Amino acid sequence: MTGHAAPGQPAKLNLALRPRRNRRTPWSRRLVQETALTVNDLIWPIFILDGQNRREPVGSMPGVDRLSIDEAVRAAEQGARLGIPAIALFPYTDPALRDDTGSQAFNPENLVCKALRAIKSAVPDIGLVTDVALDPYTSHGHDGLMRGDEIINDETVAALVAQSLNQARAGCDVVAPSDMMDGRIGAIRTALDAANFEHVQIMAYAAKYASAFYGPFREAVGSGGLLRGDKRTYQMDPHNSDEALREVALDLEQGADMVMVKPGMPYLDIVRRVKDEFGAPTFAYQVSGEYAMIMAAARNGWIDGDKAMIESLVCFKRAGCDGVLTYFAPMVAEKLTRGL
Ligand code: PBG
Repeated sequence: MTGHAAPGQPAKLNLALRPRRNRRTPWSRRLVQETALTVNDLIWPIFILDGQNRREPVGSMPGVDRLSIDEAVRAAEQGARLGIPAIALFPYTDPALRDDTGSQAFNPENLVCKALRAIKSAVPDIGLVTDVALDPYTSHGHDGLMRGDEIINDETVAALVAQSLNQARAGCDVVAPSDMMDGRIGAIRTALDAANFEHVQIMAYAAKYASAFYGPFREAVGSGGLLRGDKRTYQMDPHNSDEALREVALDLEQGADMVMVKPGMPYLDIVRRVKDEFGAPTFAYQVSGEYAMIMAAARNGWIDGDKAMIESLVCFKRAGCDGVLTYFAPMVAEKLTRGL
């Protein structure tokens, strides 16, 4: 132990204990490394829009485009080539097609279903994850159905069940409910099983917080300007952590195959608690605002973007994540395959 030195006297150091020894050489640093980031840890979220041959930049997410389905197929091919295990699809829905009940969510010809079919037939070996929530389709921008100012839980769950079945019929591998309604995981599991979709996995956005970091995503799917009020009656309060464990416990009891914490970097304490408590496949979403912050600082020359990208993702692994949803997926995969 180091004693308190009197002013002007050197502290007594125990120099038998030198943690720096293990850090001295690259080979030794590699040897003592506790966690590793690989391409197997990545899920790539992409935005889909209508049309042909279209790539439309998302202003607040430099380097991210909304893609027409043919372009999304190309992205999936690129993802598969890079070894990325799965892609998550998010639609930009024409404002004219949005309504109170999010009826496009149940249309077998909606953008997500068309993209699922196109990608599945062109790139059968990449996993396809679909978002279950009504916000890309509602005129009020909420994830659920509204009565007055209230987001009504049980009616919304019935709608989410219909949305999940619609996506399963179009060929999705994983449904990912991001809506935070109570009881939706059990209801979706029961309905999928009854319709012979026992193999469709559920990745529950189990601990999803009402966060300011979703802003760029809402721009990307076009729901930001529409959103009436906020999502605090269903998404979690950022002050809470025990509550996240309860949410995760409920989703696992109801049949979630994988659980997710969201946002990512400001919530790594939650990831660690969830992983320690349940030992279930645990994911985090490095959300749009996190991506935007790193990209903005990098583009200003304030941080080294590549290094910050890799470091941020390594930290997810260290915190206990089995995988991360990240807009950086193709860039990281590229780097990992070339060697860091
Ligand atoms: C909607 C949904 C959101 C995100 C994923 N699904 C936004 C929200 O809840 O408002 C956010 C993803 C991101 O910010 O990258 N159910």
